[in-house]
Amino acid sequence: MSAEEMKKAVARSALEWVTEGTIIGVGTGTTANHFIDALAHSQLQIDGAVASSEATAERLKAHGIELWDLNAAGTLSVYIDGTDEVNARLQLIKGGGGALTREKIVAAASTRFVCIADAGKKVDVLGKYPLPIEVLPMARSYVAREIVKLGGDPELRDRCTTDNGNVILDVHNMQISDPVALETQFNQIAGVVCCGLFAHRPADVMLLGQADGSVLTEKRP
Ligand code: A5P
Repeated sequence: MSAEEMKKAVARSALEWVTEGTIIGVGTGTTANHFIDALAHSQLQIDGAVASSEATAERLKAHGIELWDLNAAGTLSVYIDGTDEVNARLQLIKGGGGALTREKIVAAASTRFVCIADAGKKVDVLGKYPLPIEVLPMARSYVAREIVKLGGDPELRDRCTTDNGNVILDVHNMQISDPVALETQFNQIAGVVCCGLFAHRPADVMLLGQADGSVLTEKRP
């Protein structure tokens, strides 16, 4: 089974975590897109969704799913999103699609975070995937110098402006042995809008699509 087929299978299985009659949060990326399509073709009746990006909002709208502003929606029953890496504690690296800031906000505002991915995203130690950091444009060089002091190699993502009008520095060559501490350190750099580490607020449930078509469910220890 290809990674794409695993993503589709896991996206379908996430429907089981959706509570009818509630507003849910929806993530960004190819796996989240499969989830949106599966949701639209299911019989589930939800009150609507809060999108974590403009792209997701467009897709939800195209399927006729009602969009909510997070300020009006209040606490969401569940947030469903993909990831770029996940470890055994269900801590994540996200932001490969550039939507990390809104993803972190919507995840924080949700009672449960159900993460969906193909089995290839599971790692022992986070950091092989370059860690995205959203940065205010005027702070780009300063933040890059601070990242070097933390031992990373920052690279400005080419031709990328986020939904919030900012830039992204992808940080290479970090073996992230203490994700909570590193997330705190990045958060303290002036000019950093959001760090792609989801360690303070990891996923609660991880659904991992396997090569044989099955889906492995892991809950946060
Ligand atoms: C978007 O900014 C990311 O956090 C995505 O959730 C992540 O990159 C996973 O994307 P795919 O589902 O496309 O692999």
